[in-house]
Amino acid sequence: MKLKEVKKIKLPKIEDHRGNLTFIEGNNHIPFSIARVYYLYDVPGGVERGGHAHKQLEQLIIAASGSFDVVLDDGYSKKKVTLNRSYYGLYLPTMVWRELTNFSSGAVCLVLASLPYNERDYYRDYDEFKKVAWGLTGERKKK
Ligand code: TYD
Repeated sequence: MKLKEVKKIKLPKIEDHRGNLTFIEGNNHIPFSIARVYYLYDVPGGVERGGHAHKQLEQLIIAASGSFDVVLDDGYSKKKVTLNRSYYGLYLPTMVWRELTNFSSGAVCLVLASLPYNERDYYRDYDEFKKVAWGLTGERKKK
């Protein structure tokens, strides 16, 4: 089950009287090289983001500021992870449906991605995702 591959990764944190510093090296602190960085910010209260899964993309999701919940579903089981520390990242492998909810005011969701943006890598329809996750289509034989 893909949810077993989801993990919270504790990132390096350099504490200093001038403030804290966290850094991330691709293929060192996280299990992929970083091809893209994006971030969500100015998220209005009560909205939900995400609502999709990826075919090939791996990601690390960080609450760079504030907090939010990540609701995960691999087609078999679900779990909710709260991110509220800038020195933890949530590693998401391929084929995990995610919804981001409960954003605090001023939250910044920083995402490191293993591939450039490609809309064809998305499942945006949950039923289609679930069929593939259950092996009910011929589309995905490996992993
Ligand atoms: P979307 O995937 O809907 O955001 P969420 O993660 O909340 O589901 O992306 C919103 C829009 O931004 C959509 O039109 C695609 C575009 N986009 C890019 O052009 N490049 C990117 O790297 C990302 C993540 C999104």
